[in-house]
Amino acid sequence: MNKNRKYLVTAALPYANNFIHIGHIAGAYLPPDIFVRYKRLIGEDVIFISGSDEHGTAIEMASITEKISPREIIDRYHFANQKAFKDLGINFDIYSRTSNKIHHETAQEFFLNIFNKNILIEKTEKQLFSEKENRFLADRFVTGTCPVCGYEEARGDECPNCGSNLSPLELINPRSKITGDIPLVKESTHFYFPLGDFQNDLSDWLNGKKGWKQNVINYCKGWLKAGLRDRAISRDLDWGVKIPLKGYDGKVIYVWFEAPIGYISATKELFIERNEPEKWKDYWQNKDTKLIHFIGKDNIVFHSIIFPAMLMAHGDYILPDNVPANEFMNIGGEKLSKSKGNGILVKDITEKFSPDVIRYTLSSNFPETKDSEFTWKDLQVKNNSELAGILGNFVNRTVVFAKNKFDNKIPDLNKLSPADEVIFNYFKSQSGKLDELYDSFRFREALHNTMDCARAANKYFNDNEPWKSVKTDPEKCGSVIRVCLELCHSIAILINPFLPFTSEKILRILNVTDKDLKWQNIGKTVLVTGNSLGENMILFPQIEDSEIQKLEQQLEDGESVKSAPTHKALPQGIITVEDFKKVSLKVARVIECVPVPKSKKLLKLKLKIGDSEKQIVSGISEYYKPDELIGKLIVVVNNLVPSKLMGVDSDGMLLAAKLNGELRIVTIDGDIETGADVN
Ligand code: MF3
Ligand code: ZN
Repeated sequence: MNKNRKYLVTAALPYANNFIHIGHIAGAYLPPDIFVRYKRLIGEDVIFISGSDEHGTAIEMASITEKISPREIIDRYHFANQKAFKDLGINFDIYSRTSNKIHHETAQEFFLNIFNKNILIEKTEKQLFSEKENRFLADRFVTGTCPVCGYEEARGDECPNCGSNLSPLELINPRSKITGDIPLVKESTHFYFPLGDFQNDLSDWLNGKKGWKQNVINYCKGWLKAGLRDRAISRDLDWGVKIPLKGYDGKVIYVWFEAPIGYISATKELFIERNEPEKWKDYWQNKDTKLIHFIGKDNIVFHSIIFPAMLMAHGDYILPDNVPANEFMNIGGEKLSKSKGNGILVKDITEKFSPDVIRYTLSSNFPETKDSEFTWKDLQVKNNSELAGILGNFVNRTVVFAKNKFDNKIPDLNKLSPADEVIFNYFKSQSGKLDELYDSFRFREALHNTMDCARAANKYFNDNEPWKSVKTDPEKCGSVIRVCLELCHSIAILINPFLPFTSEKILRILNVTDKDLKWQNIGKTVLVTGNSLGENMILFPQIEDSEIQKLEQQLEDGESVKSAPTHKALPQGIITVEDFKKVSLKVARVIECVPVPKSKKLLKLKLKIGDSEKQIVSGISEYYKPDELIGKLIVVVNNLVPSKLMGVDSDGMLLAAKLNGELRIVTIDGDIETGADVN
């Protein structure tokens, strides 16, 4: 292992005009997160870069149709997507934005660098122009009939039906996407990048690549075979990175030219944040750094042909070492995803399921060599029979045994039995196999091999029958349980790339820090005899059929698509029914009420809510005497995070009206069972 090697890992910058969905995650975001976590476990130096792609006609178009500024659009989606990634445990070192100043400067510098080398070609050419809108109609601003397949809604840059790359002038019967206006043809001057000049260098470079995925190689070969052509890299638009030359007002750098430069800008920004402003060069200008771009298949040409050619033209930067592109993951049947859009949004699914269950389901189905399919049923099966049934079960039975029979302490291990040697060696050999799988981006297989360790651990438990030896040979039993606890620790390391939250929980259950969470410790003993274990917990609660049926129904009704982006901003302060439903309001009866000692304002109330009881503390003693409240039916917020007021636990909040120094609590008119929902 070369210790000096650095990894610069990027995940495609998603456009900030949509919410991220699980198809994006399975394609380009979870794979690099897994890769980065693995590399860190083996001790390599890695940085992980992504951010929002905030220019391009899709964003400008949305801003025109919604009559809000592009800034409002990108802010809405940038922060939402940043949170979505975080909620799934996808931990970029930086999630930057191409609207940042540092990106504009870096992209302009890049442009000027190659302009000054006379690499760019300037051409005056005919363009579609809408008089009504007083603008040139670039890319998605124009629609018309595809000259290749006849599809009538082709865009100026691409036909969504046949996938052909188009230019606006090639469209038959072009019209403005926004006004329907029939455009004129007018001349405009643009910069071209002479991609064809790089044909030979690119082809040599690609031929020298080993370990690239076949889908990527095939795609590149296709492009090279067809012959590379000049590509326009400027556009007549307002929103974007301005062309940094005099006399080019109203022109910006084409989004696909500047966005990948965003990887460089984001790295600069990261090290400015870390107070090491020069350090980005250690990555981008160091030939020992491996630059790896994780992307979806629709981005292949940009990352394995065009951006590398740009980097060659510039000359100061390294080229990608690998571009492990994934195919697509479809949701609930291809037909559905094509006809209704592709939408289980991360922000929705993370409200229902824990991140590791989502990560596991997606990982075991990564579209690594061909398109794959997500179903709710699969998520349930993966959770109940694999995560809970194999992994959770092993940890739980081990810890429960230690708790019941060994006083919740780590038993001693004197000498390894042959069976102990076998299981430890198996773990070690699996970790070696996993090295290869991670390095060749075969994460599905890696996950499978990881789970094989948990399967083997269960078998070790069964074969050694500690429930028998506990009576006949307690010392032997102790070593078996000790081995199982060590295996739990090894499993925490093994699953860490895929299931980081669960890994952390296992460490907590074992009551150890992450100091031994290193790949080289797999299959080794690291625990300390006699130390106490932490508190046990259920790692993967069962997912019920009824829940899955509901989600399947929703998907069929297109509901998860309905909640997909409509670009309709809600006015400030307005919430949706879904927002309101997040608050659980319940009818409760006050069964006890006493003042909180030493407090002027607080009363402590015991409430009956359906079959359960809970305690809340409320600042109402200036308005009510404790006795007045007993027996009243009131309304409480039942799903608040518990808190403490003057040292007293409070698990909810009652509703009350307050005005001008007067306060009255909300009570129920007449009688109804406690526990009833209020909505
Ligand atoms: N925004 C593009 C997409 O979603 C990806 C841009 S990747 C970058 O398809 F390299 F250009 F940043
Ligand atoms: Zn077409």
